[in-house]
Amino acid sequence: MSLVLLSLILTTIGAASSDEAALLAFKAGLSERSSRALASWSWNSSNTSFCRWEGVTCSSRRPTHVVALSLPSSNLTGTLSPAIGNLTSLRLLNLSSNELYGEIPKSIGRLRHLQMLDMDHNSFSGAFPANLTACISLTTLSLRYSQLSGRIPASQGQFRQNNLSGELPPSLYNLSSVKILQVDNNMLHGSIPSDIGGMLPSIQVFGLNSNQFSGVIPSSLSNLSKLTDLYLTGNKFTGFVPPTLGGLQSIKRLYFGRNQLEADNMKGWEFIT
Ligand SMILES: *[C@@H]1O[C@H](CO)[C@@H](O)[C@H](O)[C@H]1NC(C)=O
Ligand SMILES: *[C@@H]1O[C@H](CO)[C@@H](O)[C@H](O)[C@H]1NC(C)=O
Ligand SMILES: *[C@@H]1O[C@H](CO)[C@@H](O)[C@H](O)[C@H]1NC(C)=O
Ligand SMILES: *[C@@H]1O[C@H](CO)[C@@H](O)[C@H](O)[C@H]1NC(C)=O
Ligand SMILES: *[C@@H]1O[C@H](CO)[C@@H](O)[C@H](O)[C@H]1NC(C)=O
Ligand SMILES: *[C@@H]1O[C@H](CO)[C@@H](O)[C@H](O)[C@H]1NC(C)=O
Ligand SMILES: *[C@@H]1O[C@H](CO)[C@@H](O)[C@H](O)[C@H]1NC(C)=O
Ligand SMILES: *[C@@H]1O[C@H](CO)[C@@H](O)[C@H](O)[C@H]1NC(C)=O
Ligand SMILES: *[C@@H]1O[C@H](CO)[C@@H](O)[C@H](O)[C@H]1NC(C)=O
Repeated sequence: MSLVLLSLILTTIGAASSDEAALLAFKAGLSERSSRALASWSWNSSNTSFCRWEGVTCSSRRPTHVVALSLPSSNLTGTLSPAIGNLTSLRLLNLSSNELYGEIPKSIGRLRHLQMLDMDHNSFSGAFPANLTACISLTTLSLRYSQLSGRIPASQGQFRQNNLSGELPPSLYNLSSVKILQVDNNMLHGSIPSDIGGMLPSIQVFGLNSNQFSGVIPSSLSNLSKLTDLYLTGNKFTGFVPPTLGGLQSIKRLYFGRNQLEADNMKGWEFIT
């Protein structure tokens, strides 16, 4: 009995201290200027739990784990520590509108419970983190406006104001829970898979604006019955807009301007009716 209790206590302490170590490593990856933004992030007698640090939310159940890290527009500058992948209970990560640079660490793929990832408006560079497609619980993946460049080995979405270059990894389209997938304003290229209509069954918002995507707009898009927003503006799509898009039941916003699409009086605009 006491052994069980002891091991329970040790498990609790172990979990808590590894999350704390990961948070401190996250802070250590940031610059001095950011450290001021994280003034509350220190452990002392008047502040005895990292769960009370700015932007940190912990689970109420024991053992205590960090379930959300939300520091949008917090003047964070520096790199994103690979230790972020040690916060394995994380469900929300919101680091939007900061000045994070360098690569997005591969360890992000360890966040199997991550539901919402928002890292819009940063300065990430390097390869698109293929490992992100291992985050099987994702419902929101937003990586718009960053400066990612170089090949994307094989995964993921959403970089904003970045110069993202590379293709979206095929495994990205296997993320069956994803409702919001936006990678607008990067330098991604490649084409939309022709069988996309049979993938991404939950997708509502699909944002590819202002990239270098090419090829035809697949007619199977019309089978994405939950799609409300489709942003394809500012790419290099060619061919005709598939007439079947007119059959999208839930669509509210559909943009495909500034491409190399063809349309004349005879063909290409039937979807409007
Ligand atoms: C993160 O986890 C890895 C693997 O378990 C470990 O080696 C590393 O020390 C951890 N980092 C921190 C900052 O806790
Ligand atoms: C103790 O923690 C509080 C709140 O997190 C912080 O404002 C204060 O500077 C810390 N004190 C020391 C000595 O680190
Ligand atoms: C401890 O940190 C939390 C979170 O930043 C802060 O709200 C609180 O005022 C701090 N407590 C003390 C006693 O400094
Ligand atoms: C960010 O920096 C600006 C300018 O120095 C300052 O006005 C603002 O309060 C800072 N915001 C935060 C969340 O630290
Ligand atoms: C990245 O994903 C690969 C393949 O799933 C895996 O072997 C590797 O451990 C992952 N890397 C990290 C740092 O999570
Ligand atoms: C992240 O924070 C920003 C600013 O508060 C907010 O607008 C955005 O919706 C958040 N992202 C997510 C996925 O919750
Ligand atoms: C993005 O790429 C374009 C074209 O290569 C370049 O002119 C621009 O400076 C880059 N922007 C950033 C923020 O790196
Ligand atoms: C997508 O999932 C299917 C079924 O699990 C699998 O056969 C396929 O290899 C996956 N594709 C990619 C690119 O991961
Ligand atoms: C949509 O799905 C139906 C049934 O699975 C299929 O018969 C049809 O060919 C698909 N439409 C497109 C445009 O892919």
